[in-house]
Amino acid sequence: MALADFLANLEQLAEQAESAFSSAGSAEALEQARVEFLGAKAGQLRKVQQGLGQVDKADKPAAGKRFNEVKRLVEAAFAASQQRLAHSPVESQPALDVTVPGVPWRIGHLHPITQTIRRMQDIMGRLGFTAVEGPEIEDDWHNFEALNIPLEHPARDPLENFYLGVAGATSASPLLLRSQTSTVQIRVMEDCVASTAPGEDPPPVRVISLGRVYRPDTADATHYPMFHQIEGLLVDRGVTMAHLKSVLRLFCQSYFAATGEGQGEQVHVRFRPSFFPFTEPSVEVDMNWTNAAGQSSWMEMGGAGMVDPAVLRAVGYDPEQVTGFAFGLGVERICMRQHGITDIRALYQNDVRFLEQF
Ligand code: DAH
Repeated sequence: MALADFLANLEQLAEQAESAFSSAGSAEALEQARVEFLGAKAGQLRKVQQGLGQVDKADKPAAGKRFNEVKRLVEAAFAASQQRLAHSPVESQPALDVTVPGVPWRIGHLHPITQTIRRMQDIMGRLGFTAVEGPEIEDDWHNFEALNIPLEHPARDPLENFYLGVAGATSASPLLLRSQTSTVQIRVMEDCVASTAPGEDPPPVRVISLGRVYRPDTADATHYPMFHQIEGLLVDRGVTMAHLKSVLRLFCQSYFAATGEGQGEQVHVRFRPSFFPFTEPSVEVDMNWTNAAGQSSWMEMGGAGMVDPAVLRAVGYDPEQVTGFAFGLGVERICMRQHGITDIRALYQNDVRFLEQF
């Protein structure tokens, strides 16, 4: 082979290798190009080197010298490209644009019912009522018997309650999901009596209990098989209906003043005679407030009354010594009315588009 041909091949190859290295956009592409041109076994340069054997004997030293020079140049071109890629910040990706607005964090917030519950606890706490809790699975004694609800009472109907077919439940002493938070009244008074030394009077009680209750209602705009009640109980010497009404009026006024909906003097509470087995006398509690648009209407909030002497006696308080009032109000009603929510189901569908409004 003539020296000129050998050299021409060599130069052409060097050119190809350099352009392949400098146009490689990623470490992988560069490695491919290295194998192609500088590969020890089948690289292009190796093939040219094998061609040295056919160069005329007299030209061999010159051809070999030039081959070594070119090989070093190609190796240097490879190293330069390697450097270039190592220092480019994000290989083959668009550069980071720090001026693009970020994706905002989605920060959750309290469910509207939880907000309502917290506000109620806060207001009643300022009136001196301690928040207590009771179990959601109850026995016959706390849900009915101690509350003066006799065996034949329709409130015990299996169609009105979620009785549980679990171990420990018998038809004589069934277990059920509590149908009312009035159960907690019994538990609190029992605890007070149990912690009283013999011969002493049990202490006065001033508690609220906020929690879930369950009834097998078909869900519609105003019914749901699970909902919340706020229960209040005050037992002491000389407690009267007047105390009950004052506390409920203060509660409603504070609640709606806090929401900015109605100012104190525009919020009213009214009692209608009613019947509950655990109170005597018993009333339904209605509330009325004037909203920002000047509209007002009465809304039923729940029941209340003076604790029946039979209930006090059942838990060990002496109805000759103390009297008490109790009330139980629907939490959803107040929350819905406050926010203008017209379908209770919306509260429990967990659709963020609905929930994020509150
Ligand atoms: N427990 C009753 C219900 O769920 C509501 C109620 C009425 C609670 C009168 C009371 C009360 O504490 O005194 O329908």
